[in-house]
Amino acid sequence: PELGIDDQAELLPYDKKWEFPIERLKLGKQLGSGAFGVVMKGEAKNIVDGEPVTTVAVKMVKKNADNTYIKALASELKIMVHLGKHLNVVNLLGACTKNVVKRELLVIVEYCRYGNLQNYLLRHRDNFINQIDPKTGRIDYTIGQEYDLDRTYSNSSDKSNNCHSPSMKYAALTFSNNSGNSMLPPQSQMGDYRSSAGTQMTSLPDDGTVLSNNSIQPEWRSNYKGDYKGNVKPICTKDLLAWSFQVARGMEYLASRKVLHGDLAARNILLSDNNIVKICDFGLAKSMYKSDNYKKQGDCPLPIKWMAIESIRDRIFSTQSDVWSFGIVLWELFSLARTPYPGMEADERLYHKLVEGYRMEAPEYSPKEIYQLMSECWLTPPLSRPSFGKLSETLGNLLEDTL
Ligand code: ADE
Repeated sequence: PELGIDDQAELLPYDKKWEFPIERLKLGKQLGSGAFGVVMKGEAKNIVDGEPVTTVAVKMVKKNADNTYIKALASELKIMVHLGKHLNVVNLLGACTKNVVKRELLVIVEYCRYGNLQNYLLRHRDNFINQIDPKTGRIDYTIGQEYDLDRTYSNSSDKSNNCHSPSMKYAALTFSNNSGNSMLPPQSQMGDYRSSAGTQMTSLPDDGTVLSNNSIQPEWRSNYKGDYKGNVKPICTKDLLAWSFQVARGMEYLASRKVLHGDLAARNILLSDNNIVKICDFGLAKSMYKSDNYKKQGDCPLPIKWMAIESIRDRIFSTQSDVWSFGIVLWELFSLARTPYPGMEADERLYHKLVEGYRMEAPEYSPKEIYQLMSECWLTPPLSRPSFGKLSETLGNLLEDTL
């Protein structure tokens, strides 16, 4: 059955410049699937300037799914159009909307070859280097030096500082300018090296925003000198910190565009080349363009363990409730992807304990400063929680301390 006129109207106002001819898109294997959506890997011809073929991720609604789901995807598409580009957000590349009336809607986004952080962390649990000094509880970057953990890239020629690229400070952190042993790898090596982590893929960096304009020349710094378990380079505390910082930056951008995410969780953060993480899945996102900062959600299933106390109680979502979820994400990262509130059900009892002031303990691999930060994200009054700007500043400083 086709959509009614009201439903169509709701779908329509959409900038045609994003329309991508479906003939130039080839679908591959399935990357993920949810209750109503499927994400497929794909190859798109001439979707990114200067690149004949680009590996992409294509989001669509399952056949026979009901109207709400296609509307949710259409709304996600509109949010992405409104949002614009940022390094730490999975960017929109195009959409096929011609057959939306027949419930066919394809949303084409950047492909992130290492998949989501939750699975990535689970796969690397046996390969983690805890850089916390057991005596002081503080980060000690010299721990694990024998592994050459640095996965940063030289950024010597980056002069662009437009809104699509990170600030200089960010650039300095993520692409530290240290070309000690600058050995350019065969591109395939980059794929092989973390192959247990992601799918073996075309090895072009997928990040159109920054890497395709040649502003950053990746230089291979790793000498691969450690004896890595299973030949996979370990992850370390500094990686967790770098990812936390980038998520805060991405969320700071979302907040500045007046978009709330509503489902921030490690499963919705993807890892891309060059250790860049990107926030995805705006399925529950809402734009707050109508002056009110708060949005009430309908009756859809909700991620209780990631939700702020006021969101559980009243279904009120705001940038401040995203900050609470960010605190849970920090807990997930520094526990190497344990499920929050271990041993507890996501139910009324959890809610009542939260009201009584109960909060999770520090996760196993968390430095003191990070536990402090997550605790602030879980303050009961929404306005007492730090802003994403404050969070990225604090995390940026912690990351600098480790350099
Ligand atoms: N799974 C869901 N979205 C994805 C993306 N953009 N890249 C890789 N895997 C994904």
